[in-house]
Amino acid sequence: MGSPPSSFSSSKADKRKQGLGWVEWLRGWFYVIHEFLFQRIMASHLQNPLPLPPLHDLTCIITGSTSGIGLQTARQLAESGAHVVMAVRNPKAAHELIKKWQDEWSGKGLPLHIEVMELNLLSLDSVVRFAEAWNARLGPLHVLINNAGIFAIGEPQRFSNDKYEEHMQVNHLAPALLSILLLPSLKRGSPSRIINVNSIMHYVGFVDTEDMNVVAGRRKYTSLVGYSSSKLAQIMFSSTLQKRLPAEAGINVVCVSPGIVHTNVARDLPKFIQVAYHLIPYFLFSAQEGSRSTLFASTDAQVPEYCGMSKASKWPVCTFISHDCRPTNPSEEAHNIATSNEVWGRTLDMIGLPSDVVERLLEGEAVRCRYGPA
Ligand SMILES: NC(=O)c1ccc[n+]([C@@H]2O[C@H](COP(=O)([O-])OP(=O)(O)OC[C@H]3O[C@@H](n4cnc5c(N)ncnc54)[C@H](OP(=O)(O)O)[C@@H]3O)[C@@H](O)[C@H]2O)c1
Repeated sequence: MGSPPSSFSSSKADKRKQGLGWVEWLRGWFYVIHEFLFQRIMASHLQNPLPLPPLHDLTCIITGSTSGIGLQTARQLAESGAHVVMAVRNPKAAHELIKKWQDEWSGKGLPLHIEVMELNLLSLDSVVRFAEAWNARLGPLHVLINNAGIFAIGEPQRFSNDKYEEHMQVNHLAPALLSILLLPSLKRGSPSRIINVNSIMHYVGFVDTEDMNVVAGRRKYTSLVGYSSSKLAQIMFSSTLQKRLPAEAGINVVCVSPGIVHTNVARDLPKFIQVAYHLIPYFLFSAQEGSRSTLFASTDAQVPEYCGMSKASKWPVCTFISHDCRPTNPSEEAHNIATSNEVWGRTLDMIGLPSDVVERLLEGEAVRCRYGPA
């Protein structure tokens, strides 16, 4: 079950929290197990597929839409009339899916409005290229869905060419860069939303802002540490971004938990665990069931109201939508404003953007990123 929590530092000189306390850690695992055992009951009021309104005026970018939750999300949005941009690392697979979906949709309505753009989140250059190509169209973007993610269970620690731990890069840093660089298009599409597909596993995560790559030796690296920290970092960054975006910009930031879902996420598991995974279908959501909270967060009219409340008050976290499509509270650690501010600053530094990037982009200024074409 991952590494045990470190205790709070007892040294007077170093009051920094070094990890989750035991109580927080046990409570975190309680929430994870609770979601696993009871998600089906908690979401029993939801239809599957989630009914969507006509979405003909909506343009959505969805990362990682060739598999699992992202694939289902892309297909359902397109079938409801949205213009869907599949932002993927394997464009050939995306084109094959579109052909299949068009064939199956034929005779049921207008052809699906879907296109493919290449995006590899393991390369921050690729993220900048993608955002520049999209922004150059000078069109609106209504929903950005940061869905793509990795959980390399049991694998050794790996680093991207940008020299960042891979979970942190794919699940947090690259989506953060994409979200910020697409702000001009999201402003044109206002009211618009950034939806981050997060996870209940953030409850057992901890972000050491001085060691986002987990290399300092203070914590032992496991894939669980990599994954849960990246998901918590995403919530903390999103909370700060939501506060920094002025209400007039009309852009909201939401994190969602899809539930515990039967997808390709288990592809790296040892064979015997994969077999066990298939033996527990009652508890696991299908990918279509797992896409409901993302679809709800992307389209439901109540969501901007929830976001407005979190912006207006002193509430420290962004809106978090649970697998049952209800707003809920992220972990206690996610409420730590001081750490969220540090995550914000550290993330901007790692993705090569200045601290006033949001304000400048919203004012229409060009901002240089350390990554991307020279
Ligand atoms: N399944 C669960 O139980 C669960 C629970 C909580 C949260 N989530 C989150 O849900 C999201 C979707 O995961 P899933 O369960 O649907 O898993 P999945 O079936 O493995 O899909 C992940 C998607 O991300 C894409 N991706 C991975 N690395 C990428 C990269 N470097 N650049 C661009 N795209 C990349 C994959 O592309 P390829 O198709 O090319 O591999 C795939 O399309 C993730 O953020 C995950 O953390 C899942």
